[in-house]
Amino acid sequence: MASVAILCMTLALMNSICISLAFDTRPLLDFCVTDPIGIGKCKVKKAVTANDFFMSGLDRPGPFNSYGVAPVIASAATTPGFNTMGQTYHQAELAPNGYLPPHLHPRASEVITVLEGTMEVGFVTSYPDYKYYSKVLNKGDAIIIPLGLLHTVRNVAIGKSVITVSFNSQNPGFIFIPDSLFAAKPAINSTYLAAAFKLDEKTVKDLQTKLWYM
Ligand SMILES: *[C@@H]1O[C@H](CO)[C@@H](O)[C@H](O)[C@H]1NC(C)=O
Repeated sequence: MASVAILCMTLALMNSICISLAFDTRPLLDFCVTDPIGIGKCKVKKAVTANDFFMSGLDRPGPFNSYGVAPVIASAATTPGFNTMGQTYHQAELAPNGYLPPHLHPRASEVITVLEGTMEVGFVTSYPDYKYYSKVLNKGDAIIIPLGLLHTVRNVAIGKSVITVSFNSQNPGFIFIPDSLFAAKPAINSTYLAAAFKLDEKTVKDLQTKLWYM
């Protein structure tokens, strides 16, 4: 494994073909259900039940957040059987005009499936192309978003939309671009942000005030 990785790193400098050989590590055990008492340990096998792998209520989203999104999250944090499986699963309802701000996941690719409504989903490739691939998805459609790429997700139905979201990481990580830039604490220098975005500093400070909520 390690030697393959080193070989790939060497080859990647000359050619990107080898990147396709890189893969996620696999667990050594059938499962490692999180032990609620022994932090960082697997639950003893005889204490594991079917419920440790089971999730319910995905069709009963909680309240809408300020983006008009009501998510239900199944992850190692909510369903102990997810631990070490390299997966996270969400279902979400989006209100009319609901959206997720441009964001990326540093540790996961993502599959979005539309169960109801119509969604516009797209991602942008890295420098220097910045090509925006986007699709309008209807019920029964799905799209995969490559690992680490910036993406956009918005409800374009007249009414609500419902989606499932599957990540190939136990901890995909969320980097929301507006918040990362304008809600960072302590604040990123506003003169610098104004220069980078070709904005006047007042607009930057305004954004920093508006996004200062986390
Ligand atoms: C931001 O950078 C500018 C230019 O370097 C500097 O004059 C200013 O004092 C900095 N602002 C803060 C709040 O540190």
